[in-house]
Amino acid sequence: MNSSDWIDVTTEKNHYSLDHFVIPDHYEKDVSSILIPHGVIMDRIKKLARLIVDSSPGPLVVCCVLKGGHQYFADLVDEIKKLRRINGTSVQLSLEFIRVKSYMNDTSTGGVKISLTDTELQEFKGKNILIVEDIIDTGATMVKLLERLKTVEPASVRVTSLLVKKTSKSNGYLPDYVGFAIPDEFVVGYALDYNEYFRDLNHICVISETGKKKYAV
Ligand code: HPA
Ligand code: MG
Repeated sequence: MNSSDWIDVTTEKNHYSLDHFVIPDHYEKDVSSILIPHGVIMDRIKKLARLIVDSSPGPLVVCCVLKGGHQYFADLVDEIKKLRRINGTSVQLSLEFIRVKSYMNDTSTGGVKISLTDTELQEFKGKNILIVEDIIDTGATMVKLLERLKTVEPASVRVTSLLVKKTSKSNGYLPDYVGFAIPDEFVVGYALDYNEYFRDLNHICVISETGKKKYAV
């Protein structure tokens, strides 16, 4: 997938007013705009599932990067299960979960923590892996995770991220399948959090200054 195939929502005109969609009362003041409405996310996932199935080399180990990736992972797996390859065969999936943490407030702490024991890592040996991530921002988490996975020699590793942030802090890493390119702003919703808040918001929104202050640690 080339970056020209991503949906670019990096410009001002891509932001919807809060009046245009329903936001939970408890977050009304904490987000400044809606960047990607939930329905658009779901429609985009159908297409990403199609691309993934069409190029899947065999049974897949689909690996969810927790916590932020859980919603995309669940919706993507649902869509993949509905599909067959061009030759009519279905794709067998097994599911794995890895927990990573690197953000405090809206900044990367630089220290990526990956919860994966050496025994758990062995599950990936010789398998075709699809890593499912919510967002590639600096790229630090994914580069670390890929380094770790490659030590057990998987048959193949592909990465899908729902979002890629266009930021000068990027280390240049780009995933294989991307939903949307987003501007250099802190986004929340659809399981993406700010200090564990906003995971219960369906749309992907830009956090407001009020929101950053209210939930700062
Ligand atoms: N929002 C939520 N989590 C994140 C982001 C973001 O913009 N970037 C990296 N992790
Ligand atoms: Mg997070």
